[in-house]
Amino acid sequence: MQLIEDLRAEHDLIEQVLGSLRAFVAARLGGQGDPADGARFMAFFRRFAGDFHHDKEEQVLFRALAERAELPPDRGPIPALTDQHRRMAGLLDGLEGLLGAPLSSAEDRKRVEELAVDYSRSLWRHIDAENSVMFPEGEERLRRFHVRDLPSRPPTEAEAAARETGLALLAAYPPLHDAEVHRGDGCIACPSFGTTCEGLEVEWWTDLEWEEMWERRQDE
Ligand SMILES: [Fe+2]
Ligand SMILES: [Fe+2]
Repeated sequence: MQLIEDLRAEHDLIEQVLGSLRAFVAARLGGQGDPADGARFMAFFRRFAGDFHHDKEEQVLFRALAERAELPPDRGPIPALTDQHRRMAGLLDGLEGLLGAPLSSAEDRKRVEELAVDYSRSLWRHIDAENSVMFPEGEERLRRFHVRDLPSRPPTEAEAAARETGLALLAAYPPLHDAEVHRGDGCIACPSFGTTCEGLEVEWWTDLEWEEMWERRQDE
């Protein structure tokens, strides 16, 4: 499905620019990096990751799953991932005044680092959950309801400009690798697993899927 291919390609860029954000924050804490680039990171994550990418997921993909593939809009993966979008937008609100700031106080330095770590780790794990669970499972469930295509939309001028800004930032700040983030495939990667979402099988599986699983088990 073209929409999902587009969303995956957007993930590839977003996850790299997250590493650049971390490199930028590390540089700023070391008295380096251009404070003016703070606003450019904000533009990328607000306009491209938020207004463009997260909005398409919510308004097109998640909506189609609920309205056309009979998946619950009020529990499980759809509200879990939507809530994560909201939470991450809140972390960006916190970063807004700090990314371009002089960071002269110990409090600001601690806060900018905490927020950048939280934002990047949350979004990396969110991307892993979407790539490994939401996209393949969502596509399969739409297919069962004969939905083979969903409308994508081109970026607005501001969103396209934000994408270019992201590419420039990637070149200016080679992505930092975070060895401590727990990334991976499956619901286990998802920040909501075990808190607001019990995972794919519990939330989405139909009686038929459970029956098939038990039958397979008995054959083994
Ligand atoms: Fe998302
Ligand atoms: Fe996404």
